[in-house]
Amino acid sequence: MKQYKVGLVGATGMVGKVFVQLLAERKFPVSELRPFASDASQGKKIELNNKSWEIKTLTTNCFEGLDLVFFSSGDDISKEWGPIAVKAGAYVIDNSAAFRMDPEIPLIVPEVNWTNEILKKPCLIANPNCSTIQLVVALKPLRDSFGIEDVRVSSYQAVSGAGQAGYDELLDQTKKYPESISSQTFARQILFNCIPQIGSFDKDGFTSEEVKIMNETRKILNEPKLKVSAFTVRVPALNAHSETVWVTLSKQINEEQIHQALSGKDGLVFIKDHNQYPTALDVSGKDPVYVGRVHKDPNDLKTWMLWIVSDNIKKGAALNGIQIAEKIITAHD
Ligand SMILES: NC(=O)c1ccc[n+]([C@@H]2O[C@H](COP(=O)([O-])OP(=O)(O)OC[C@H]3O[C@@H](n4cnc5c(N)ncnc54)[C@H](OP(=O)(O)O)[C@@H]3O)[C@@H](O)[C@H]2O)c1
Repeated sequence: MKQYKVGLVGATGMVGKVFVQLLAERKFPVSELRPFASDASQGKKIELNNKSWEIKTLTTNCFEGLDLVFFSSGDDISKEWGPIAVKAGAYVIDNSAAFRMDPEIPLIVPEVNWTNEILKKPCLIANPNCSTIQLVVALKPLRDSFGIEDVRVSSYQAVSGAGQAGYDELLDQTKKYPESISSQTFARQILFNCIPQIGSFDKDGFTSEEVKIMNETRKILNEPKLKVSAFTVRVPALNAHSETVWVTLSKQINEEQIHQALSGKDGLVFIKDHNQYPTALDVSGKDPVYVGRVHKDPNDLKTWMLWIVSDNIKKGAALNGIQIAEKIITAHD
């Protein structure tokens, strides 16, 4: 089997660490790992396939000879260094929001909109926002079977979605309670609280996270006119995002039809028994997107209500990125 030289920018972060874990777990054929991080991590080592790989900082020509580069360090770094990695001849899979809505850049969830067409030459492929990924994995079978007209989603997002700093802030506030608590990463105390702000506000009152979910969902499903509204909330869960979703289909269907549409789909676990609903704690560390509590809205018989939960670091970021890379190497085999 062909082996690949792989770069990983942001190797020490919440997402980067899971990338390394998944490369090993999924036996991704890596002949060389080139991990990158900030000055603070330079010289530290990352273990993969019984070898130690030294962490470097980003420098001119640092991507030379690489086949694939995963970016997981934020928008500014991807914007500056992503095109440089493509120019050096690598396929780039970018976890940031920098290129997602660029019409020239594919925004991919493999179960939903993969096509080998995008692989004509080395290119940059964007990994969608974590809350968007779990939403579209559940919406796709409904769209394919019945058509969808309107999606309303409210999210309950874990602190790991704000990276290592967010995760540490909740743990730190927990340890210090009831002493005075300071908040750096979140706009308010996250311990014992819910914060209706993820990202910054636009002039219409939406946060940047909400705008990402609305725009990216339309782009991935290739439904530019689809009505999507999102309201996102940070909650004191450590990991895995939850969503309540109202989806209005193009026609009236019965319970058996929706159950059938959601069952046995790639990357999706449908739980029929209302009592067995999945929670963030249950799905943290697991690969699939979980859907439970599916029931009809009595106010509009074309509208169904769903509870969707998934690990934001795995399917919402690193796993989706690795699955894209697996598609790339399969297409080149
Ligand atoms: N967390 C999620 O649920 C999630 C989901 C989807 C997408 N994403 C996206 O994935 C990216 C990473 O998120 P994260 O949660 O892993 O954040 P994180 O835990 O804060 O990690 C950030 C990473 O970037 C590295 N970094 C910082 N400055 C750098 C520089 N100048 N050059 C190279 N590397 C640098 C850090 O290295 P040091 O350790 O040396 O500082 C660290 O490895 C972000 O774009 C985020 O939006 C995150």
